[in-house]
Amino acid sequence: MDYKVLGNTQQVISHSHQLIIQTPEAEAQVSIYSPTIIRVNITRKPEQQDASFAVIQDPLQEIAYQETEQEITVHTSALQLRISKSPLRFAFYTTDGKLLSQDDERFGTSWQNSRVTNYRKVHADENFLGLGEKVGNLNRRGSSYINWNTDAPDHNSLTDPLYESFPFYIGVHSGLTYGLFLDNPQKSYFDFAASSDNQFMWLGADDGDLNYYFFGAQTVAGIIEDYTWLTGRMEMPPLWTLGYQQCRWSYMSAQEVLEIAEGFRQRQIPADVMYCDIDYMEGFKIFTWNKETFAKPKELIDRLKAMNFKLVTIVDPGIKIEEGYQQYEEGLERDYFATYPNGENYIGEVWPGRCHFPDFFREDVREWWGAAFTALTEPGVSGFWNDMNEPAVWNQNIPPNVMFGDKFMPEVRNVYGMQMARATYDGTRKLLGNQRPFVLTRAAYCGTQRYSAVWTGDNTASDEHLLLGQRLVNSLGLTGMAMVGVDIGGFSGNPTPELMVRWNSLGTYTPIFRNHAIQGADMREPWRYGSENETIIKQAIEQRYRLLPYLYASFYQATQTGMPVSRTLAIDYTHDEYVYWTEYQNQFLFGDALMIAPVVSTHHTAQVYLPAGEWYRLSSGEKFAGGQQYVVDAPLTDLPVFVKAGGIIPMQNVIQSTSEPGDGILQLHIWNGPESTSFVYYEDDGNTYNYERGEYYKRTISFNPHNREIKLSVVEGSFTSKYQQLQVMLHGFDRTEHLTNVALSSEEMYINY
Ligand code: GLC
Repeated sequence: MDYKVLGNTQQVISHSHQLIIQTPEAEAQVSIYSPTIIRVNITRKPEQQDASFAVIQDPLQEIAYQETEQEITVHTSALQLRISKSPLRFAFYTTDGKLLSQDDERFGTSWQNSRVTNYRKVHADENFLGLGEKVGNLNRRGSSYINWNTDAPDHNSLTDPLYESFPFYIGVHSGLTYGLFLDNPQKSYFDFAASSDNQFMWLGADDGDLNYYFFGAQTVAGIIEDYTWLTGRMEMPPLWTLGYQQCRWSYMSAQEVLEIAEGFRQRQIPADVMYCDIDYMEGFKIFTWNKETFAKPKELIDRLKAMNFKLVTIVDPGIKIEEGYQQYEEGLERDYFATYPNGENYIGEVWPGRCHFPDFFREDVREWWGAAFTALTEPGVSGFWNDMNEPAVWNQNIPPNVMFGDKFMPEVRNVYGMQMARATYDGTRKLLGNQRPFVLTRAAYCGTQRYSAVWTGDNTASDEHLLLGQRLVNSLGLTGMAMVGVDIGGFSGNPTPELMVRWNSLGTYTPIFRNHAIQGADMREPWRYGSENETIIKQAIEQRYRLLPYLYASFYQATQTGMPVSRTLAIDYTHDEYVYWTEYQNQFLFGDALMIAPVVSTHHTAQVYLPAGEWYRLSSGEKFAGGQQYVVDAPLTDLPVFVKAGGIIPMQNVIQSTSEPGDGILQLHIWNGPESTSFVYYEDDGNTYNYERGEYYKRTISFNPHNREIKLSVVEGSFTSKYQQLQVMLHGFDRTEHLTNVALSSEEMYINY
């Protein structure tokens, strides 16, 4: 066993953007990205080029530090990094000297063969959040995780790893917060004091550098903002993706797709999106259409369009080995596929049978892949669902000697899916001209939010999955993935009618509201569970459409600050121990003002925790004091949803699709509270990039109980709102009548009550 420790400082070299500390074993490179972000890269290969799939920012060109015999101190306006020279150890403090996080003094950083590990002190009261798509508790303390993108079809609440890797966590202790992002895409490990007698936590990777970014903002929201500044933020999603989406593996013919779409319109159940899973293709060959069952894709899509539906189709990375198949022939001829070290193309089996796999790490391959989407965009497909990109092959184990260019599979596995999503996004963005593409991917790494939305893969129709799925959604939100969904209803198995109803009620408050089911499962459309249940599901979907103005503005917030739409309570109530209790860990805020308490289908009451402040039950208007636990009614018709006092919620009338103009009335719901609040309202055409040229409509809506006033600031941007009138709906006030027929002006507006 080759065991090496980082060792003592030999030499300190200072460059404008970097401090280099050399030991006999390695070199630590320290750089500053912002006052609250410091990078430490401990490397044994300092000559290698610095590259990252995740990070899109550069370090500052100055670094302030002091050096003594024993110590180096790096300062920013928000952080101090104290570096002990011998042995070389790192400790992060606030500027007023409070310890945020530090190396374990005994073990620090070391290597066992190529594996690098970093041991860190844990505080007695420390809670851990993050790592994105990981099942288990909200508080990661006492658990251990591996990042290794994996097709995990039968996962449960203990399975690890799943499809996506986000080696980024947040620590909370002593009233303080910090974050740490290990930017190493190799198989990595995070152990939050699981089996170390609570002496330390550790993190590491099979190979590569101990390359981490330390975040010192003193709120979780601030850490998310910094992390998404560093790795990028999502762009405005197409509005139609926020509508209801209907998927299945598979609707087997164009005829069936149309019948289902018509089914929504006949029953007046709002919906925006139909999906084609793998069976639309000819023999599962990517970029083909089945000549019999999907003979005229353009006609199908035109007819869907006439009904205000968009179509999303699936693509997998595996290219079928078949002579005459264009992508196979081209890829083969141009050497675009993953190989063995002897140059032979790697073969793995997926849906089409024996396949080759594009090397998405090459720009020319990404361009080729992106351009091939004409087969889908020409007939009019709007969204591109990237599946099986962990990459998945039957029986999982792609041999370690498979190569993508000069990299072996283990070095890049965790970023393969992200690069496929990137190629898909770049390609379809070009092909769609000014339209926003929708990309949905199953595998991901940090930074994927720049290209794609994610969903949590093959879940199961069970109450356990309803709850664990919600935690996955909330956890992914902490790592920049605001546009996220689960298979509503559960992919495998058949939900009971009660579970189907419950899950759809939660779907209203899921960033992506998409029903999906495995091949052979019962049909899952909202009308398959009897008329009473159909009514409840329809109401859930209608509520989704009424909330769209609020939801769209919440996504705008995600594009500006990285703040997710589904927010674990640990974001706003970080130091409140109750939010980490397993009873309450599934609760979340949906946007600024709504709090949802998920409830399993077999319970008709719910134990909920309402954090500090005052709350109202959305359905009844009943008021509750915060900072308390309650048992509340939770019949299948009424998922517990609460509004925060002072909540500002813009809504609209029910429409059948986001393509409909609606009645032109913006319904502004104000929920009374003791303090002033505000909400950034945002609108644009919902479909193009014209907002980048200033064609948006943005204004701050504020509520001031002291002056009994609601104010709408002057409109910024050149877009004309689709609403002409304002209706102000007051909740919890002494005055109860609503204010109707108010003309919506783009000048400053004051409404006094
Ligand atoms: C995978 C996907 C699932 C899809 C199926 C067939 O299992 O996770 O969503 O329906 O493949 O394409």
